[in-house]
Amino acid sequence: MLSPNTKLISHPLIQHKLTLMRDKATSSASFRQLLREISLLLGYEITRDLDVAPHTIETPLETMQGVQLAGKKLCLVSVLRAGNGFLDGFLDLLPSARVGCIGVYRDADTLQAIEYYTKLPERLQERPVIVVDPMLATGNSAVAALDIVKKYGAIRIKFLCLLASPEGIKSVSVAHPDVQIYTAAIDRELNNHGYILPGLGDAGDRLFGTSKRSE
Ligand code: URA
Repeated sequence: MLSPNTKLISHPLIQHKLTLMRDKATSSASFRQLLREISLLLGYEITRDLDVAPHTIETPLETMQGVQLAGKKLCLVSVLRAGNGFLDGFLDLLPSARVGCIGVYRDADTLQAIEYYTKLPERLQERPVIVVDPMLATGNSAVAALDIVKKYGAIRIKFLCLLASPEGIKSVSVAHPDVQIYTAAIDRELNNHGYILPGLGDAGDRLFGTSKRSE
């Protein structure tokens, strides 16, 4: 059963594009483009509750009251490096969003997240914050990134991924029950190296063409 803090966005267009991304024959260029397109679709859903305020304009025919986004600009926080794959699509949708970056790497033996870089916009407590990382695997990086944004003041936080494992969802839900997780799929399990099965491989390598297989 889906945990109450998890939202599965299973739109046919997303599922179609995700299947192409999972295919090992898909090139890095196509993988990047597909993630950009999926970001638009996920971005549409995850921004559904953004605040708006009335805004009066003149149409060519008369005055009308429309709406515009209100409040401090939303902040996207990319968990380096694979999180950057979400940025282009998301920024097409919300060009004025602020972007923060958190660098955490997985220790190969312990799979624990080690922080090596953090750069976040000011006044995080006033902004909706979306932490983005395509793969929610063990959950260690996600939990560490969420710890960091909270340390910098973030209150209204969502976590966006492409694929989640049941283990990752559990670990984020236990450590950060206030954070809503948005994902396009929940896969079966993790292997012994912390990779999601059936998954799509290493998202960073596939985005940036750094896997041995692509040399
Ligand atoms: N990170 C990835 O890129 N892929 C996985 O399957 C797990 C973590």
